[in-house]
This record gives sequence, structure tokens and C-alpha cells, in this order.
Amino acid sequence: MTIKITGTGSALPERKVTNFDMAKLVETSDEWIRERTGIVERRISTGETVASLSAKACELALEQAGKKPEDVDMIIVATCSPELLLPCAACQVQGIIGAKNAVAFDLSAACSGFVFALCTVYAYMQSGLYRNALIVGAEVLSKLVDWDDRSTCVLFGDGAGAAFVEASEDKAEKSGIISMVQGSDGAKGMVLSCQGRKLTNAFMEEAVEANEYIHMDGQEVYKFAVRQVPACINEALEKAGLTVDDIDHFVLHQANIRIIEAVAKRLKVDISKFPVNLDRVANMSAATIPVLLDELNREGKLHKGDKIVLSGFGAGLTYGACVLIWD
Ligand code: ACO
Repeated sequence: MTIKITGTGSALPERKVTNFDMAKLVETSDEWIRERTGIVERRISTGETVASLSAKACELALEQAGKKPEDVDMIIVATCSPELLLPCAACQVQGIIGAKNAVAFDLSAACSGFVFALCTVYAYMQSGLYRNALIVGAEVLSKLVDWDDRSTCVLFGDGAGAAFVEASEDKAEKSGIISMVQGSDGAKGMVLSCQGRKLTNAFMEEAVEANEYIHMDGQEVYKFAVRQVPACINEALEKAGLTVDDIDHFVLHQANIRIIEAVAKRLKVDISKFPVNLDRVANMSAATIPVLLDELNREGKLHKGDKIVLSGFGAGLTYGACVLIWD
């Protein structure tokens, strides 16, 4: 048994914000942002939410898979920026699209969220509990960044991507997911954090203050990514009985062009095998991989039999990779 992606979809906010727009808000420049990150512009919500963007992406993925909302068994939304603490974004999406037969819940693994959701769905389907799922990576990070902090506000964007995934009895494993690796390093978690609400209640004498915005030690995140991502990709390839030379597309979390270039160099793979869209959409955390996958799919760049590596890494710290053969 394996699982296959049979439909993809994505949705971005209408509003484009260029590096020049950012330079009007904070002391920065197009040149600094481009050189350090590869980002040229990003989409920023002017009202779109994790739920509304996710629902749109899901409808497109279902349409491509030829399925109706009532056919869906499971919905998982990977996000760290839902608009509500309760109910979860996946239940909101279920309500919007009318997937009344689905079980729905969120998954929190930041930029690794989409890969972790894929692994979760794989385990459910291996167990025979469910036969299909909508998995979504969606963020509205613009509400978690401090718009006065030039070191973080230039890096992120908003958006959502979805994939419809189905169990498949392709015993020869000629398509679908063929291996996956996940990992976490909670001891280093505070290098990339967002605390949210402060801890207080009727029984505490003093509240524990919290930083409600994203805080990042960029250099530590960079070191983590360039060490851990090639290692977990190699492990996933080894499990699949493949080498880097067998892979057609390395679809990495789009954090920063320098990270992608360093990973390509460490794997000794030509950079042309690493598709990039972060110049147009910036870092959308859990949404980067499914949005890029959908772009490649809709542009006709993925062909039957293509071998693809998906790899996410981010807050937690978390990281993961999976190898799949496109159908
Ligand atoms: N514009 C102009 N100057 C800036 C900006 C900005 N937007 N941001 C920071 N600076 C300044 C700093 O104030 C500092 O100035 P100083 O030397 O006078 O103190 C100088 O630039 C260097 O700052 P650093 O933080 O050391 O910049 P660095 O070279 O490390 O680049 C970056 C920052 C691009 C974030 C880098 O650390 C990096 O690539 N990190 C990888 C992590 C990453 O991409 N995170 C994204 C989110 S996490 C994830 O998705 C996994």
C-alpha cells in the first residue's frame, strides 16, 4: 500500500508587497533583501484568512482530483498562524467547503508541517482507518511578524497550498510515496519562536510576559538547515534505495535562496533541480511546499514517473523529507 497525490491547489492573497514597499516601512532596501534572501515580493493578507485561503486551495485540489467535498475522509491543516485558537482551521475549512463526512484537525510543525501532515496521513492509510485526505499547508504570518523589526518582517508572506491524497494498492511501488523521514530537536526550539498570549490566570500573582511576535536567530536557523536538510534527504533516499542522481525535483521549504543553494551544494546536485518561487511569494512556512508543488503541477513540469523529494524544516526545530514518484 502507498499513498498518491491526485490533486493540488493553492491560493494567495491579492495584495502584492514588493521590497520597495517594505523599504517604506522599515530601514531596508531591495538590494539587501534580494542578496540575503532571494525575495523580491510577497503576498500579504488584507483580510484573507488561513481558513479562507485553505478552503480555496482545497476546492482546487478536489476539482483536479475529480472528487466532491462529501468524498473526503480527512482534512489536516498544517499551520502555526490560525485566526482562531478554537475551533481549529481544519474544522473551519470543513464547514466552508461542505466536507461533512471528514474528520478534521490541525497539525503544528511550522515549516515542516506539510511534510509531517503527509507522514501522518500515510500512517492513517497504512492502518486502513481512512482512504483519502485533504492536506493543507496554510499561513497568515503577517499577523505574527513585528512590522517594525526589519530583520524578520521582510522574510515572510501569506498563502495556502493543498493536496488531495488517496490510498493506492500499487504493490510495485511505481508511484506514490516511497519513503519518509521525520525529526525534531526541541532543545534548540527557542532559536525560532513566537510565544503568543502571556501566561496569566486568577491564581497567579504576576503574569509571565510573552513576546507575541516571531523571534529568530537567523544564523542558528541557517546552520541547522544546511546541516540537517541534506542529512534527512540522504536518509530518505537511502530508505527508498535511490541516490540524488535519480531525483528529478527537490521541492524544498522556501525559506531563503542561500539555504537552498547550500543544500544543493552539499548534496552535489545541480541547482536547476531545485525549483524556486520564494522570489515571488517569500517564506510562507507550512504553505511553501504545497504552493510550489501546485505551481509545478499546473505548469506541466511534473511528469508521470518523475521522482520528487519534498523536504521541510523549521521551528520546533523540526525537519522531514519524503520521496515520491509522480503519477
Ligand atoms: N535590511 C537591512 N539591514 C538589515 C535587515 C534588513 N531587512 N535585517 C537585518 N539587517 C541588518 C542587521 O541589523 C545587521 O546590522 P548590524 O551589522 O549593523 O547589526 C546586519 O543587517 C546583519 O544582520 P544579521 O541578522 O547578522 O544578518 P544575516 O547576514 O544573518 O542575514 C538572514 C539575516 C537573511 C535572516 C540570515 O540569517 C539567514 O539567511 N538565515 C536563515 C534563516 C532564515 O532564512 N529564516 C527564515 C525563517 S525560518 C524558516 O523558515 C526555517
